[in-house]
Amino acid sequence: MAIIHHSVEQAKYFLNQNQVIAIPTETVYGLAANAYNASAVQTVFQIKNRPNHDPLIVHTHVFEKVFDFVTNFPSKAQILAKKFWPGPLTLLLKKKNIQNLITANSPQVAVRIPNHPLALALLSQLNFPLVAPSANPFGYISPTRPQHVESQLGKYIPYILDGGLCHIGLESTIVGFQEEQPVVYRLGSISITSITKTIGPVLIKNHTQMQKAPGMDFSHYSPKKKLYVGDISMLCKKYAQYKIGVLSFKKNYTDKSIFVQKILSPSGSLTIAAKNLFHYLRLLDDSGIEMIIAEYVPNQDIGSTINDRLQRASAKSIC
Ligand code: TXA
Ligand code: MG
Repeated sequence: MAIIHHSVEQAKYFLNQNQVIAIPTETVYGLAANAYNASAVQTVFQIKNRPNHDPLIVHTHVFEKVFDFVTNFPSKAQILAKKFWPGPLTLLLKKKNIQNLITANSPQVAVRIPNHPLALALLSQLNFPLVAPSANPFGYISPTRPQHVESQLGKYIPYILDGGLCHIGLESTIVGFQEEQPVVYRLGSISITSITKTIGPVLIKNHTQMQKAPGMDFSHYSPKKKLYVGDISMLCKKYAQYKIGVLSFKKNYTDKSIFVQKILSPSGSLTIAAKNLFHYLRLLDDSGIEMIIAEYVPNQDIGSTINDRLQRASAKSIC
């Protein structure tokens, strides 16, 4: 069992000893370690059971610090950073002083300044940046509460810095550059519209185009139970012999085969739906049902990211 507490001092103590702990961010909880210590970084991969070809994001607390580990900061990247940091934006930039283990041998490092007061307080008191992948076993749903981390990884780590519920609930948007051309590699909580409003047109190379690239495995965020996404009433009829858990957007379904139902946002708010998505998927996964049936939400703003996560979470069930 890990200690769950809001003391930044304690978190600092463990990290300075090159131990791995969980930290809150505004997106999801991260499994954090000293980015400059090879064995601490290797432990992060081991705890998550994550393959070494899936690279890690490096977190810091101020813009100026990024120059400690990148050689080139294109002007469009700087414009994005100035607008969205601290916040749910990860930039892929040419690296220096960053071990190959972190970047899966790529010359680019992923960098982010998270927008969470405890994470920022902690990072500002450390002499090193932190690697922090989402604090879940590889391929499973990301954690948005300390208890999510504790239930799966608590036995491997001494401490979870308790920053409460993650207020966004979906991972950061990842943006890189091919020559001068900005490319979105992972849909996240900053919408494509906000990015194009800030720096003009972007290419989108989300998982569908990038299935073979490092860290871009299509199947991800998956619950243990089978998950199907589509027309809920039709799917409930098709699988009527199973105990079904439903994850709906705003409607309450009344089909007889429904055993448990979670509604992402009865008022139809995509922001609230995003915040609830991973928590509700976990609740359904841990309830006594046999299968989860969900529906896509309106494909706009953060709704596109919710749909991306639902599609990837259900990929194993389709295969
Ligand atoms: O919101 C977030 O980004 C959270 C919080 C904790 O900061 N972190 C997170 O990390 O989602 P993770 O490891 O679960 O996902 C990071 C993804 C990798 O799977 C990979 O696709 C991409 O970022 N990535 C990291 N470094 C990269 C690199 N050098 N080149 C290409 N992609 C990279
Ligand atoms: Mg992850």
